[in-house]
Amino acid sequence: MSIAQNIETIAKLRCIGCGAAPDSAGQDFRCTACGDLLEFFFPGWNLDSPASGQHSIASGAPGVPVRLNGRDARSSTDPAALKSLWLSRRTSRDALDQSGVWRFRELLPHIPEEHAITLREGNTPLYQLPRCARAADVEDLHAKHQGMNPTASFKDTGMTFAASSAHQQEFRWVACASTGNTSASMAAYAARGNMHSLVLIPDGKISWGKLSQSLDYGALTCQLRTDFDGCVRILNELVRQKPVYLLNSVNPYRIEGQKTAAIELMEQLAWEPPEHIIVPGGNLGNSSAIGKALVEMRELKLISRLPKLSIIQAKGANPFYRSVREFGGKKLEPMTADTLATAIRIGNPASWKKALRVLQATGGEVEQVTEVEIAAAKAEIGADGIGCEPASAVTLAGLKKLRRSGFVKPGESVVLILTGHLLKDPDFTIKFHRGDLFAGMPDETESAKAKYLQRAPVVLDADLGAVIAALDAAERNS
Ligand code: F0G
Repeated sequence: MSIAQNIETIAKLRCIGCGAAPDSAGQDFRCTACGDLLEFFFPGWNLDSPASGQHSIASGAPGVPVRLNGRDARSSTDPAALKSLWLSRRTSRDALDQSGVWRFRELLPHIPEEHAITLREGNTPLYQLPRCARAADVEDLHAKHQGMNPTASFKDTGMTFAASSAHQQEFRWVACASTGNTSASMAAYAARGNMHSLVLIPDGKISWGKLSQSLDYGALTCQLRTDFDGCVRILNELVRQKPVYLLNSVNPYRIEGQKTAAIELMEQLAWEPPEHIIVPGGNLGNSSAIGKALVEMRELKLISRLPKLSIIQAKGANPFYRSVREFGGKKLEPMTADTLATAIRIGNPASWKKALRVLQATGGEVEQVTEVEIAAAKAEIGADGIGCEPASAVTLAGLKKLRRSGFVKPGESVVLILTGHLLKDPDFTIKFHRGDLFAGMPDETESAKAKYLQRAPVVLDADLGAVIAALDAAERNS
């Protein structure tokens, strides 16, 4: 139906450090000249806005009309045509159109359709959070729930795309180091694409829900006696020696796929950006991806202004927070990370420089939150009938702090990105409600503050009178 329909997106790789533009990436996705990370940019886009380049993350050659497939590229990035094309795909029977990632393929590098592996990822709901809004003292609070993806975390949006690129390059094996969600997602997409997958996870430090997923999807799952950062070190060595395709978020295809969460969010908001978007920060791929999408959407005039993108870390796993607050973003000191939010138990985040550019481009803030603040926020998100895993709850805990510091004003609209589903980590949830989560930990005293949110199960005799008494007691306390 539209001019944009058949245009292949021409994308090129570029190093974020020295600007070198290699024709292809090595096994570790690092620049061979300086060792920094690579990213995609799109020289074919017609970016003639005077503002483009100012905060540019992915600017190509602004204002230069490039002809793609014999057509003027200007038409391929016409905002109104793109918006209506993407909307029309929502009623399509085509598998790629039904995916909330591939639906936006005009803003992604081209991967031929026959290599696309999709589980109809994306298409995640945007929910209002009325109780959480009151708790955080803001009027307009939404959550984009990326835990509603096929393997129950945001990783699927990047994985569909990067696994497809592995398929296109005819890899037999794909691999990742993970705190649990990347591995679950990778294992699923590898299985769908008839590839083998190798998972490296820190022994004893990922939730059972996530571990069980990678087992069922058929991955070779290695629990290493180290932390996530140790798993990354081994994997980086491995991919230099074996023909194994690296699917961590240093892989720029992952970042491209994950951009679509922000594009879909803007569509859900009728292309009216909120004032703030808040994301958890672990390895910092997600914040980099969402920020890249925001900047690109503004350059393409799909949105008229940038929301501020803020990144929240757990206090026990806060290398990026410290980098920004203590060193002005000039360096990042790796640390030994520790938090019950195991998804973000990361001490040496790979994408910190990309995330820093996002903070600078959007004017966002960085915050850290305590273990008790995370647990309380998680229960509050649950009490809105939504729920999420612990790492996702740092967003609400961080919002409360940003509200108290005045960075977020009461009338400003805020969207939290919830990255994982409540059922990913039931152990955490049950321990919290039973009052055991912080037993014997330094946080035990502070945890009294969150007691009012605990709903421990009540064990009763199989007796109607006992149940009625429990109901009446609950009614009196409500
Ligand atoms: N939230 C959840 C639920 C996660 O699983 C992760 C990362 C993050 C937030 C942080 O995102 O790394 O892009 O900053 N999980 C990775 C994994 C590291 O292996 O599953 P990030």
